[in-house]
Amino acid sequence: MSKQGNVAIAPADGRLGILIPGMGAVTSTFIAGVEAIKRGIADPVGSLTQLGTIRLGKRTEGQTPRIKDFVPLTPLECLSFGAWDIFEDNAYEAAIGAKVLDRSLLDQLKEPLSAIQPMKAVFDNNYVRRIHGPNVKTGANKMELAESLMDDIREFQRRNNCTRLVMIWCGSTEVFHKAAAVHRTLSAFEDGLRKSDPDIAPSQIYAYAALKLRVPFANGAPNLTTDVPALLELARQNEVPICGKDFKTGQTYMKTLLAPGFKARMLGVSGWFSTNILGNRDGEVLEDPGSFKTKEETKLSVLEQILQPDLYPKLYKDLYHAVRINYYPPRGDAKEGWDNIDIFGWLGYPMQIKIDFLCRDSILAAPLVLDLVLFMDLAQRAGMKGIQEWLSFYFKGPMTAPGLYPEHDIFIQLMKLKNTLRWMQGEDLITHLGLEYYD
Ligand SMILES: NC(=O)c1ccc[n+]([C@@H]2O[C@H](COP(=O)([O-])OP(=O)(O)OC[C@H]3O[C@@H](n4cnc5c(N)ncnc54)[C@H](O)[C@@H]3O)[C@@H](O)[C@H]2O)c1
Repeated sequence: MSKQGNVAIAPADGRLGILIPGMGAVTSTFIAGVEAIKRGIADPVGSLTQLGTIRLGKRTEGQTPRIKDFVPLTPLECLSFGAWDIFEDNAYEAAIGAKVLDRSLLDQLKEPLSAIQPMKAVFDNNYVRRIHGPNVKTGANKMELAESLMDDIREFQRRNNCTRLVMIWCGSTEVFHKAAAVHRTLSAFEDGLRKSDPDIAPSQIYAYAALKLRVPFANGAPNLTTDVPALLELARQNEVPICGKDFKTGQTYMKTLLAPGFKARMLGVSGWFSTNILGNRDGEVLEDPGSFKTKEETKLSVLEQILQPDLYPKLYKDLYHAVRINYYPPRGDAKEGWDNIDIFGWLGYPMQIKIDFLCRDSILAAPLVLDLVLFMDLAQRAGMKGIQEWLSFYFKGPMTAPGLYPEHDIFIQLMKLKNTLRWMQGEDLITHLGLEYYD
């Protein structure tokens, strides 16, 4: 660590404000978790920034610092939280409503959680159809709504005395839509905001407001959001990091663990049928075919990229892949994901694998939110701008530079993330090449 870093990283001085559109299950579980960890009531299980280590140099050197000691990350004590939602519930009420965390834990955190009152949301029922709430902004056009969000951001920063900010979308999944003419350039987009172009989604108004104020933006849902030339242009112009999309938790996480293993051993896959039942508000929104289609796109793309059927047609060309999500209220946030995987081995002999993952969606997502906001802040202090591909590790549908395919294999993603940290700090990259055979 004494080596000279490849980039100058500004210190993490002062407070970091975390701004979140959407204060539902994921957000309330994330904020409550950070407050519990700060008080020593719980451990940050699932968080690479808090628990992970990084090997430096040769294996014989025995140097494996904690990631948070290796790169300058903001300590949890220096985080402040703000959110927008269409419902007026504060973070304590939202957490109770989400039914993810025990009431006894939440009651110990009542004071800090009750203080987080959601700001009025920019919302449009054409983009999220199943929910209706009163805490919504009005404005003459979409540009006015964006300006109102910018006022919120400045006011939050002032009130909480933050030196830096990061925004992360944890709002509902918006309906599937493709980039349109209004997304082609920044000037077309700004014109579209003034004319309230229907192709501009609420999440894009939040992202625009953030990027205008040089606030890094991460997208936890599969919405199009910043994946359009206009907002990429703004991110580069204002030198702001962005990343997305769709937190890789639950079933897709399992897929990206298993599929690289099958391919590593040259085992074939003829079918992969995935079905989920979940009963939280996210599940209710995903009942709408428009929102489901957005989700389906990111969930389906994973296997194709990992298995590379073009390179291995005998093994993967005929793979039948289906994903279903069913809203089933009794389960709440405790999702159940079933996978039936039909594989084949030597001489084509078939085998089956069944997975039944009784998971907790928001428990899996919350540590990813924490890691992402801390790493996005680090990226900005290190002068990194535009799409942060090294954070693909966290996403089902990683954003990539135009023309490049995303990397979905979680082990390659982790290596890329850690090598980026090593590179930032001027350490040798680890290739796992053992040249000792030649000594
Ligand atoms: N939990 C996971 O494992 C996981 C994984 C991947 C992606 N996601 C995505 O993360 C998002 C949040 O998930 P959740 O379980 O917390 O859902 P949730 O339904 O509990 O919370 C979403 C919140 O966003 C609010 N909202 C919707 N549109 C808004 C807008 N325009 N402005 C402000 N608030 C808005 C809703 O009122 C709701 O309170 C969803 O899009 C979900 O698909 C979750």
